[in-house]
Amino acid sequence: MKDWLEYQNKTYNNSVSKLLVYFLKKYKINNAIDLGCGSGNETVYMIKNRVKVTAIDRQLNKNFVLERLNDKEKENIFFCEEDFENIQLESTDVVIAFFSIPFCNPKHFDELWDKIYDAINENGYFVGQLFGDRDGWKDNELINTFTIKEVEAYLKRYKVLKLDEIEYVRESDNKKWHFYNIIAKKEIKMNDNKTNTNSKVVRN
Ligand SMILES: C[S@@+](CC[C@H](N)C(=O)[O-])C[C@H]1O[C@@H](n2cnc3c(N)ncnc32)[C@H](O)[C@@H]1O
Repeated sequence: MKDWLEYQNKTYNNSVSKLLVYFLKKYKINNAIDLGCGSGNETVYMIKNRVKVTAIDRQLNKNFVLERLNDKEKENIFFCEEDFENIQLESTDVVIAFFSIPFCNPKHFDELWDKIYDAINENGYFVGQLFGDRDGWKDNELINTFTIKEVEAYLKRYKVLKLDEIEYVRESDNKKWHFYNIIAKKEIKMNDNKTNTNSKVVRN
């Protein structure tokens, strides 16, 4: 199992994901799950923007978050130290997953993806990244990478509000990055609902 502490230390207090800033400006939510919260930069940003957050990570370092919150803000943070592979998710307005769920054991990825969908409230959102099939980690059997067609299939149940493909080589270490920035809305179509207002009630 990979140790993420060094990464978490390195990214502590980094600038917040632009995707999250964009999302929060545009869409109204009250609560969120930060799946694979790492050093908690996005969790802290959301709490400071009056969102209640459940921060989840297998290697949870609560202090990374707590030391940046005042007493009032601490009332809006909940922690859960759990693996993606065993997680139970409570219902939420948005699941954010920044550079995290690609590291779920691939045997459990589809199950995790379904749990995320089930947890999101009607008219709620998924915001995060999936890795692409041209990423430098494409041959790593422990990391999930997908073609654009596969990503579109994963997003079939959602209304896709943003699906940007990002591809570049990082100069510092020559790492090839290929990932998708995603904002997707869980819109329940009338036909998907069990309650059909047009159905006739037949009484004997
Ligand atoms: C690349 S970091 C991203 C952290 C943060 N979201 C960010 O954007 O900086 C991935 C995070 O996911 C967590 N993680 C990786 N695999 C996991 C798993 N199978 N279950 C739960 N957490 C996991 C790691 O501990 C790490 O904090």
